[in-house]
Amino acid sequence: MTGRATGGRYSERPARQTDGRAGTLQEVAEAPGGQPVWSEVDRYIEDLLLGPDPALDSATAASAAAGLPAIAVAPNQGKLLQLLVRASGARSILEIGTLGGYSTIWMARALPPAGRLVSLEMDPWHAEIARRNVAVAGLSEVVEVRVGPALAALEAMVAAGEGPFDLVFVDADKEHNADYLDWSLRLTAPGSLVVVDNVVRGGAVLQEASTDSAVIGTRRLFERLSAEPHLSATAVQTVGSKGHDGFVIAVVGGPA
Ligand code: SAH
Ligand code: DHB
Ligand code: MG
Repeated sequence: MTGRATGGRYSERPARQTDGRAGTLQEVAEAPGGQPVWSEVDRYIEDLLLGPDPALDSATAASAAAGLPAIAVAPNQGKLLQLLVRASGARSILEIGTLGGYSTIWMARALPPAGRLVSLEMDPWHAEIARRNVAVAGLSEVVEVRVGPALAALEAMVAAGEGPFDLVFVDADKEHNADYLDWSLRLTAPGSLVVVDNVVRGGAVLQEASTDSAVIGTRRLFERLSAEPHLSATAVQTVGSKGHDGFVIAVVGGPA
């Protein structure tokens, strides 16, 4: 993330060239749309509304240095998650899919004292990096990373009587998203929020005949949401530095 800038200074800077396309800010502003504009607008938003953040920047750098894929939520999306935690007054969070703990840190920071976040991660190396990043952010007492396949972990959590969680963020293997929704309903209470990342995937969600397990899993999620009387859901498409994608946001407890 770059530092906070004034509007005036921002407009003097050249556009960031993330995708091999040259472009001044003037050219980006006049372009009809697409990835260069989306990325530049994300940078504008981050510069003015997010500001510098050493712990999150360090988590991003350490994750990249450890060879983790660059698929964490974007900074402005992380802040959206944080605002959802704050606005809902969530005290307990369940995350499915930790990676290097980037989204984890954004959400955990908004918890009140005695708040708690449990994050499920299959890959032990990802979990190790996440724990280090969480420690650098000063959140080791708040965050617990559990290693193992999420389906088994969720089943164990229900069996142990854990929950209810006030917010669930689903962001692991997309193939199992409908199952993650089912388990989330067993680990939440009326009023809890369920947020699912990556539900549009550049429009691939429309491909009825797709053999891609992520697309099949995402379509299954939407079908389950559509048939589920115990929650009220919407989905919002996003464009930005991570391309064209979207979130599902649902409140447990049926239609308002
Ligand atoms: N929420 C993170 C990104 C998560 S990427 C962020 O925005 O910062 C998806 C993560 O899910 C990866 O680390 C991957 O190892 C993990 N994952 C994939 N399949 C899984 C499974 N079956 N159970 C648990 N974690 C899984
Ligand atoms: C992928 C996973 C994510 O959670 C994400 O935000 C972007 C991409 C992926 O598996 O490709
Ligand atoms: Mg994601």
